[in-house]
Amino acid sequence: MRYTFPKDFMWGVATAAAQIEGAAFEGGRGPSIWDVFSRLPGKIKNDGRPDVACDSYHLYEKDVALMKEMGVKTYRFSFSWPRIIPDGSGEVNPEGIRYYKELIACLKKNGIVPNATMYHWDLPYALQVKGGFGNREIITWFKHYAEVLLDNFGEDVDLWVTFNEPIAVYVGHALGFFAPGLQDEKYARQCLHHLLVCHGEVVRMFRERNLQNAKIGIVVDVWKHYPARAGNEEDEASAVYNNEITGYGMFLHPLFLGGYSGELQKYLKEQDMEPVTEEGDFEIMRRKVDFYGLNFYNGLYDNAEELRAREKAQKEGGNYQDRPESHPEAIRDVLHMLVEKYKVDVPIYITENGLPQDAGEGREKNLDDQERIDYVKDVLSALHETMEDGIQVKGYYMWSLLDNFEWSAGYAARYGLYYTDYQTLERIPKKSAGWYRQVIAENGFDVE
Ligand code: FCB
Repeated sequence: MRYTFPKDFMWGVATAAAQIEGAAFEGGRGPSIWDVFSRLPGKIKNDGRPDVACDSYHLYEKDVALMKEMGVKTYRFSFSWPRIIPDGSGEVNPEGIRYYKELIACLKKNGIVPNATMYHWDLPYALQVKGGFGNREIITWFKHYAEVLLDNFGEDVDLWVTFNEPIAVYVGHALGFFAPGLQDEKYARQCLHHLLVCHGEVVRMFRERNLQNAKIGIVVDVWKHYPARAGNEEDEASAVYNNEITGYGMFLHPLFLGGYSGELQKYLKEQDMEPVTEEGDFEIMRRKVDFYGLNFYNGLYDNAEELRAREKAQKEGGNYQDRPESHPEAIRDVLHMLVEKYKVDVPIYITENGLPQDAGEGREKNLDDQERIDYVKDVLSALHETMEDGIQVKGYYMWSLLDNFEWSAGYAARYGLYYTDYQTLERIPKKSAGWYRQVIAENGFDVE
């Protein structure tokens, strides 16, 4: 059987500034919270640091050439806030502006549509010192940054994303294994509240500009949890907690339905963690976007007993990133949930999907990544079926173009279609790169 995608389906690849650019202390860039966090002992696997990463700051033309060769129609990247405004809220760095101007011009010359994220986790450290997302001033800071971006690149970027996976801010402030590394859930809740207001304020700013070709949206990842043993109370409660209280519900409810969900409100009250709000915040958060970006990696089945064991292992250290069981088919249920439960009625893109390989398996094994091909094929098959159900998805971005700095997993988790040799900075195509190229060329693939 053959799966064919709509004629105008947007095939793409995704990356993020802090993960690929490197040149952390060049071109006038200021430090980000990840530069600082990665210097704390034991925070990043094998003490990986994003200082050089893939050096895409210097090698971006090479990267665009790889995309062109693969035939990708769109590239999702992010702007680095500390490269644009080194101290977060003051002077604009002309070298930063120049870099992204050149990158975008290079994409356009090669017929690749830019999809750019304003915030993909790399807060200027100077703002963290002032409280970061926990300080309501972040709304002013973020609006200033967004204004600079829109002034400089407004019409040149077709798809604008305010935030990538806001849950990272929760992880960084409540759980501590992402930057800035705090473990204070109440503070984290306040941060998320401000973040959502930042998002809504920038949507308004964007609307006022009446840009002709550009659209604006947000990317929320959905790792949907299901009870492993249906009917088991503990498993059921765990799924509700992980979806509504510490998962996608924290964002999808305020963005698309308005306000925090009943479950979340109850929890926040009981825990004395209700964020300080101002009048009108919830209306601002809910401002209509033009599209929604879904990052989908997996569905998860919660077995309360296994979760306890895992938590214990995590506390004992070393468990940087789990490779849970594989549920590519869950994307169908997730997309139905977006439309049916959250009433998402704007175009949807799959803004990230992929599979990591362990660097420890060695280069040969990493290059022969049939496992990644099989997984992505399963996701795309389920996606195609969902589209046949009538849910329209306009595009799909693979994470990632090339192996890169994978946050707290450092350089140990390889997600690329291209293998990055971190010694020589060579990019070497994996088997999946050839496969993806063919999928794009044929706008589909065969399944047995
Ligand atoms: C997502 C992030 C992205 C990358 C992939 C593997 O959660 O948005 O930066 O780390 O996971």
